Amino acid sequence: MSRSVLVLGGTRYMGRLLVARLLARGDRVTLFNRGRTEDPFGNHVERLHADRSELARATAGRRFDAAVDFTAYRPEEIPLHLDVGHYVFVSSGQVYLVRDGAGVPSREQDYDGPLLPRPSGADEGQWDYGAGKRGCEDLLASHPSFPSTRLRIPMVYGPRDPDRRIEHYVHALLRGEPLRAHAPDRRVRHVDAMEVARTIELLLADPRSIGQVFNQAQDETPTLRELLQMIMRDVGITAPIVEGDSPLSHRWMSFIDPSRIRAFGIDHAPLERTLPRAIGWVLGELTQWSAAIR
Ligand SMILES: NC(=O)c1ccc[n+]([C@@H]2O[C@H](COP(=O)([O-])OP(=O)(O)OC[C@H]3O[C@@H](n4cnc5c(N)ncnc54)[C@H](OP(=O)(O)O)[C@@H]3O)[C@@H](O)[C@H]2O)c1
Repeated sequence: MSRSVLVLGGTRYMGRLLVARLLARGDRVTLFNRGRTEDPFGNHVERLHADRSELARATAGRRFDAAVDFTAYRPEEIPLHLDVGHYVFVSSGQVYLVRDGAGVPSREQDYDGPLLPRPSGADEGQWDYGAGKRGCEDLLASHPSFPSTRLRIPMVYGPRDPDRRIEHYVHALLRGEPLRAHAPDRRVRHVDAMEVARTIELLLADPRSIGQVFNQAQDETPTLRELLQMIMRDVGITAPIVEGDSPLSHRWMSFIDPSRIRAFGIDHAPLERTLPRAIGWVLGELTQWSAAIR
């Protein structure tokens, strides 16, 4: 059945992948964003261009079967005014990192409890991000009549990653540079952008998810070293691993437990499939770029 779906965001990364999936299944999609990021959807979508703060005015009198929110970071941005059948809020594993004493891997039930004091200096922004997402989630939890699902995800890799994390290493390999990693024997658990889009599509299709909160992440927990070895294997270039900051592992990167969403019936494709897919995209982009300068 074709649904009307409002996507708050929808043009940069996971949102763009989700919109492509929704259109493929025949949904009528309305994008709400500022119009700064180009999208490839032509006349297949309706576009509402305004800042997030203008959402209530831009959607007044409208009803949507579903909405997916990639752009709320503070509780005052949660659109409780929306007339919508199902609202999915894209949250973050960071909600556990600002919690004092959350377990690792963090489960949904580790959420409640006191927060760490707000740090000063470089960590301030990271803490604000986690606390802001918690504020959004707390507001939704305190309005059970608003039909929401909260989805917590860790670091995301995949095509068009605005943080260029996998790309960083692929390019280092191609330049013949060593790969930088701090604490390479620490285990990591990320999530694939295409799997996030698929997960949201499945949550939207299942009314049992309303009122619930889920973590989603890949099943595998390689060490950072093992992950870098997989990247070297897939690029076909070997390089030494040396001490340095890594975009794939740092203190403000959550490590979450996806057991609840597995029990609900939603899986995650294996890392052996998703990582080559992400690397393939980076290499494909490079091929286009090389063709353009030839
Ligand atoms: N990347 C990660 O590793 C990661 C991890 C955990 C959680 N998350 C969450 O993922 C979400 C972002 O995902 P995404 O980048 O894949 O989403 P996306 O929907 O693909 O892209 C972000 C969208 O937001 C729009 N936007 C930004 N600021 C806006 C504003 N002030 N008013 C209206 N629209 C605005 C952008 O378009 P315009 O610029 O044209 O307005 C763009 O369409 C965030 O909620 C973040 O917390 C990300």
